[in-house]
Amino acid sequence: MSAPAVVVTGGAGFIGSHVCTALVRAGHRVVAVDDLSTGSAANLAHVPEVDLVEADVAAPGLADLLGRIRAGVVCHLAAAIDVRASVADPVADATRNVVGTVAVLQAAVDAGVGKVVFASSGGSIYGAATPPPVDERAEVAPESPYAASKAAAELWLQTFRRLHGLRWTALALANVYGPRQDPAGEAGVISLFADALLAGRPTTIYGDGGQTRDFVHVEDVAAAFLAATAELPTDGRLNIGTGTETTVRELHTLLAGLCDAADSPRTAPARAGELARSALDARRARAVLGWTPQVPLADGLAGTVAWIRSRSAAVVPALRAPADHR
Ligand SMILES: NC(=O)c1ccc[n+]([C@@H]2O[C@H](COP(=O)([O-])OP(=O)(O)OC[C@H]3O[C@@H](n4cnc5c(N)ncnc54)[C@H](O)[C@@H]3O)[C@@H](O)[C@H]2O)c1
Repeated sequence: MSAPAVVVTGGAGFIGSHVCTALVRAGHRVVAVDDLSTGSAANLAHVPEVDLVEADVAAPGLADLLGRIRAGVVCHLAAAIDVRASVADPVADATRNVVGTVAVLQAAVDAGVGKVVFASSGGSIYGAATPPPVDERAEVAPESPYAASKAAAELWLQTFRRLHGLRWTALALANVYGPRQDPAGEAGVISLFADALLAGRPTTIYGDGGQTRDFVHVEDVAAAFLAATAELPTDGRLNIGTGTETTVRELHTLLAGLCDAADSPRTAPARAGELARSALDARRARAVLGWTPQVPLADGLAGTVAWIRSRSAAVVPALRAPADHR
């Protein structure tokens, strides 16, 4: 009989597709479950070993699927990630992110899955009271419905552990960047800036640009998911970040250099509710998972810019194709 499978919800998304790749490379049988609301089958085109099931995780049938493929671990990344949309429509956010998570946990229990690894958000669940880098003991003080959903999902994980013995690890991710991040969606600032700089469009910095973020490369994040699928001595939340603060202004300078563009962003008033500083202390992940970030920011940015360049080069001939064949 084949080995138990690992299921990746949101596996056709930006981070999920890298998680699928890391799992396949480590020899796992991988099934991605994704409703393609923001993800795309094209994100998995490079890993034909992954079976993509197009489904909403909250729809009936997930437990049957998990049972049929003998899922041992579920990596749960399916979520709506747009923070501003969560403020505009908190019910829609909670439906997808809280109810969706509870549906995954119940299906996991029904199908006898051993463990869930959850994508939480270290960049948004902690309050501003603790100076960065924050460790997992910092106060959880969500400022958006999106962050509240992530904190709520962690409570559900704790509850299902007590109620059903379902093991769990929540990876509280910093600001993730890298290839396949969608610059047209609620993307990270890196793909937004790089996409605009390469296309010669203006960029905008809100506030004085001194706000800091902890940028962690998506391949490092995928490695953390892979490590967290193992049986660990304890359940709980692990921060996944570099601990290094980079200002948005510094980031713009680095990207302008890589994109051969002018380092002259427009400025606009600071946005309400935006954290002034953010960085995560990931020493617990190092101790528990043996995980440390491997991709230096300069290398990761260069690779991301190269990916956006190659994608633009691939899109232009495709758009021209009908005219060429007329
Ligand atoms: N990008 C970041 O910096 C970051 C930081 C912290 C946490 N996270 C978390 O990581 C996860 C992945 O984020 P991402 O940046 O790759 O975003 P993404 O939008 O690329 O990925 C989310 C995926 O989930 C799918 N999906 C959404 N709702 C679904 C549902 N009900 N059923 C099935 N599939 C569904 C989408 O189609 C998409 O493929 C999310 O849980 C997000 O909250 C991301």
